[in-house]
Amino acid sequence: MDSTATRSGLDGVVVADTRLSEVDGERGRLVVEGHDIERLAGATSFEATAGLLWTGALPQGEALAAIRRALAEGRVRAFEQLEADELPRFVDGMDALRAATARLTAEDGFDAPARLTGAVAVYAAAWARTRAGGRPLAPDPELSHAADTLRMLTGELPDPARVAGLETYLVTVADHGMNASTFAARVVASTGSDAVSAIVAAIGALKGPLHGGAPGPVLDMLDEIGEPARAAQWIEAELAAGRRIMGMGHRIYRVRDPRAAVLEGALARLEQAGLANGRLALARAVERVAEGALRAKYPDRPLAANVEFYTAVLLDAVGLDRAAFSPTFAAGRVAGWCAHVLEQRATGRLIRPASRYVGPAPQA
Ligand code: COA
Repeated sequence: MDSTATRSGLDGVVVADTRLSEVDGERGRLVVEGHDIERLAGATSFEATAGLLWTGALPQGEALAAIRRALAEGRVRAFEQLEADELPRFVDGMDALRAATARLTAEDGFDAPARLTGAVAVYAAAWARTRAGGRPLAPDPELSHAADTLRMLTGELPDPARVAGLETYLVTVADHGMNASTFAARVVASTGSDAVSAIVAAIGALKGPLHGGAPGPVLDMLDEIGEPARAAQWIEAELAAGRRIMGMGHRIYRVRDPRAAVLEGALARLEQAGLANGRLALARAVERVAEGALRAKYPDRPLAANVEFYTAVLLDAVGLDRAAFSPTFAAGRVAGWCAHVLEQRATGRLIRPASRYVGPAPQA
């Protein structure tokens, strides 16, 4: 390719060397700091995964306990900074999350990964409680991060199986190569700016439906389809209308997103525990139909289920309202964003790409 040609989506452009995660789109493999996602998710706590991303090794013993305490303190300190009365005006949870996070400062200690990660969970939950007509719940530092996040989101002390479902989710989405929100965070960090600013930029990027905004619409789609027999007609009509099928397709993966299988497995475990929402069979049927219809329409461009497809059904089964799905995605991904900010500071340079001028020539 001509080296001066514009690559507007930066497809295939390598912008960083990273130790944090590798996305192998051809083979459908995700490795997080030397661990296949299938071995990490479901087996490792969110605290341990965050520690892995922030320090390069899976923490154990006192190191793990220290991360758990730091995250708990992050939640408590973030709650102290919350302006709960501002939340009701936000219709969108990502707007609320962005605004609440933007009030934090490095001077108040929020440059630290554990503080920021605690804050995003608290603010996601605070908005969800407000939207449900309640008041935000104060964090409980005695609980694990996943258990406390679920308690603050739902207002109830959660069932351990549901906590396990959310924990698997948070670990699964903690990091994923140079996705748009991570890139946004790294661009901001590359200027020497503070971590709060980087995370606020990342939240803005994650809000978009092409990135983190898809799981709510996936559940809307499953509701509209209602039963497997109606899937083909519904999907065909969407494609004929030129609309995208949410939860399908990916910039990097040319096979099914490995995270879809991890989340599908977590959902199956909830179903076995009698706690699922009965949507697993419908989701599987719709996925099959959508994959076939997309293959027929784009025979040269494999478009399979991405992480958002089963996120929608899993988070619903865990007890979350669909409006809280994207903020909850942020509550997991913030661990990766913070790790990338640290890595960018340690190894990166100012990110400053070029553009090609196509405007009018200056007047003589
Ligand atoms: N449904 C229908 N068509 C789709 C599609 C989908 N989910 N995903 C891609 N396509 C189509 C595109 O419209 C494009 O067709 P066109 O050339 O006729 O316009 C073609 O497939 C190639 O897609 P492209 O735009 O190159 O893909 P991308 O790499 O830019 O997009 C996504 C990747 C994720 C943004 C895209 O697959 C998508 O919009 N998916 C739905 C939203 C979603 O699930 N987002 C969460 C991502 S984790």
